[in-house]
Amino acid sequence: MAYRPKNILITGAAGFIASHVCNRLIRNYPDYKIVVLDKLDYCSNLKNLLPSKSSPNFKFVEGDIGSADLVNYLLITESIDTIMHFAAQTHVDNSFGNSFEFTKNNIFGTHVLLEACKMTGQMIKRFIHVSTDEVYGETDEDSLVGNHEASQLLPTNPYSATKAGAEMLVMAYGRSYGLPVITTRGNNVYGPNQFPEKLIPKFILLAMRGLPLPIHGDGLNVRSYLYCEDVAEAFEVILHKGEVDHVYNIGTKKERRVIDVAKDVCKLFSMDPKTSIKLVENRPFNDQRYFVDDQKLKCLGWSERTTWEEGLRKTLDWYVRNPDWWGDVSGALLPHPRMLMVPGGRHFDGFHEDTKSVSSVSTNTDNNSPSEVPASASISNGKHHPTMPSYHHVNCIE
Ligand SMILES: NC(=O)c1ccc[n+]([C@@H]2O[C@H](COP(=O)([O-])OP(=O)(O)OC[C@H]3O[C@@H](n4cnc5c(N)ncnc54)[C@H](O)[C@@H]3O)[C@@H](O)[C@H]2O)c1
Repeated sequence: MAYRPKNILITGAAGFIASHVCNRLIRNYPDYKIVVLDKLDYCSNLKNLLPSKSSPNFKFVEGDIGSADLVNYLLITESIDTIMHFAAQTHVDNSFGNSFEFTKNNIFGTHVLLEACKMTGQMIKRFIHVSTDEVYGETDEDSLVGNHEASQLLPTNPYSATKAGAEMLVMAYGRSYGLPVITTRGNNVYGPNQFPEKLIPKFILLAMRGLPLPIHGDGLNVRSYLYCEDVAEAFEVILHKGEVDHVYNIGTKKERRVIDVAKDVCKLFSMDPKTSIKLVENRPFNDQRYFVDDQKLKCLGWSERTTWEEGLRKTLDWYVRNPDWWGDVSGALLPHPRMLMVPGGRHFDGFHEDTKSVSSVSTNTDNNSPSEVPASASISNGKHHPTMPSYHHVNCIE
C-alpha cells in the first residue's frame, strides 16, 4: 500500500531540485504540511519557492541542518513524520577548493538530522536521503551495463566522497536504530532554478551575453541529464511507493558529451561553435562517465518524460525570461570560479555580492572560518521539551 505522509520536512528546498519537489508536492497534495529548512546559502533563492509561498500548508524556516537544537525543535513542534533530505554543498569544483565545507554540511549535517530522528523516537516514518550517481565513481567508457543499486561506492572527488560518507551514516542509522531510510542516487539534473555555476545554466547565461562557453579539458567526458520536473516526479513516486531500506537510482540511459551540450546551446543561440567554445584547463579530476542502471525505479512506475531537446528549450526560455533571477552572478560564470563559501553572501575570488534578493534575516550563527570543521554540536534532548532555538521563519515570501 502506498505510504501517505502527513508532515514533511524538506531540507535544501530554496535550492534547485528540492524547490521543484516542494512546489510539486504543495500543488498536488494540499493535505500534506511541508516545512522547508534551508540556510539560504549562495546557490539558493527564495524565489524558487514562489509557487508555494501562499499555500497554507507551506512553511519556510531559515536555518542550518547542523543545528541540533533547531532540527530537534522542528521535528517535535511540526510533528514531522517524513524527511526528504536534499541540503548539501553540491558543486564538485568547489569541493576541490574548500572540502571541509563539504564534510561539514554533507556529512556532519546529515548526521545531525539522523541523530535528531533517533532522539524523537519512532516519529519518523520515512527518511529519504538524496545522494548522487557520483558515489559510484567513474564508469568505464565501454561499459554497456550501468551501476546498479548494489554496486560498490568508489567516489573520486571530495564532493562525492562526502555524499558517500553521508550515505554510510544513513545506512547505519537504518540498521542500528530501525530508522526507515530510503536512499536515492541521481544523474545530473537541469532546468529552471539551477544556480549558474552548473554547466547548463552557465552555458545559457554566457550565450545570452554573447560570451564564449568554457569547457574543462577536452569536453569528451559524458554525462546523463534529467529534466527537473521528471526528477521531482521521481521523488513523488519514491515518497509514496519507495521501499524502506532500499536504494533507487534516478537515471537515464541517454548520455551526451559535454562538448555536445555546448554545441546544442550554441545552436539554440545561433552561435558558431568553432569560435564560441573554448577548451580550458581541466579540474584536478574529472570523471569520464556516470552510467547507472535505471530499472529499479522504473518498476515503481516512473520514467522520464522530457526529451533533451524539449528540456533544453524550456530551460533556455526560462533563463531568457528571468535574466536577473540570481542578481549579479558574473563570478559564477568564470571558467573556474573559486567560491569561498563564507556565510551570508556570494564570494568569488574577492568579489562579493549580497545574495538576499528577498527579505529575510540570516540567523546563521556559524562563526567558523570557512576551513574549520565544527568541534561538536550541542544535541539537546528534544524528546519532550525541545528548547526553542533562535531561528527565523516566514510563511510568505515578499
Ligand atoms: N544537481 C544535480 O544535478 C544533482 C544530481 C544528483 C544528486 N544531487 C543531490 O541533490 C541534492 C540537491 O542538489 P541541488 O543541485 O538542488 O542543490 P543546490 O546546490 O541547488 O541547493 C542546495 C540547497 O541546500 C541548502 N543547504 C546547503 N547546506 C545547508 C545546510 N547545512 N543547512 C541548510 N540548508 C543547506 C542551500 O542553501 C541550497 O538551498 C543534493 O544533495 C545533491 O547532492 C544533485
